[in-house]
Amino acid sequence: MTSAMYIASFAWFLIVFGYTRRKNLFQHIPLVLAGICCDILLVLYLQFTREAVQEALEFDRSVYEQIHIWTSTVALLLYFPVIYFGSSLKKDLDNPELRVKHRRVALTALTFRTIGFLFMFSMWES
Ligand code: HEM
Repeated sequence: MTSAMYIASFAWFLIVFGYTRRKNLFQHIPLVLAGICCDILLVLYLQFTREAVQEALEFDRSVYEQIHIWTSTVALLLYFPVIYFGSSLKKDLDNPELRVKHRRVALTALTFRTIGFLFMFSMWES
């Protein structure tokens, strides 16, 4: 596995662990934010070192690799509304609408990130 794969796995683990701690704000928020930051920094690093976005847009990759790229991209874009609704919910914990919005967008992001994580292993050259 490459070092980028280790970092991506660590980020996914932090988000999943943070999800399991969703009832405890003092654990949930730092854990998921740390995972999201790792993901964003990793994409920026890959962009500077390998021009990952241009490479991804070339479409000359296998179906599995493309699934990895597109599901991970959707997850990354969803992180912004996740943070927005999560921060709003933190200020207004008794608001059921915000709770539902945060849950929906966060679980969608987690689903896409998990599919992207699994398909990442199609890029594993032992
Ligand atoms: C991908 C990352 C995340 C996932 C998967 C996630 C998932 C969840 C879920 C499923 C809940 C329970 C909602 C319910 O009660 O039905 C929750 C609660 C919450 N989340 Fe997140 N979340 C994420 C990121 C964040 C972020 C970045 C923030 C803040 C900036 C945040 C703030 C909160 C707050 C304030 C609650 C309410 C906790 C409570 O009831 O005491 N979450 N989250």
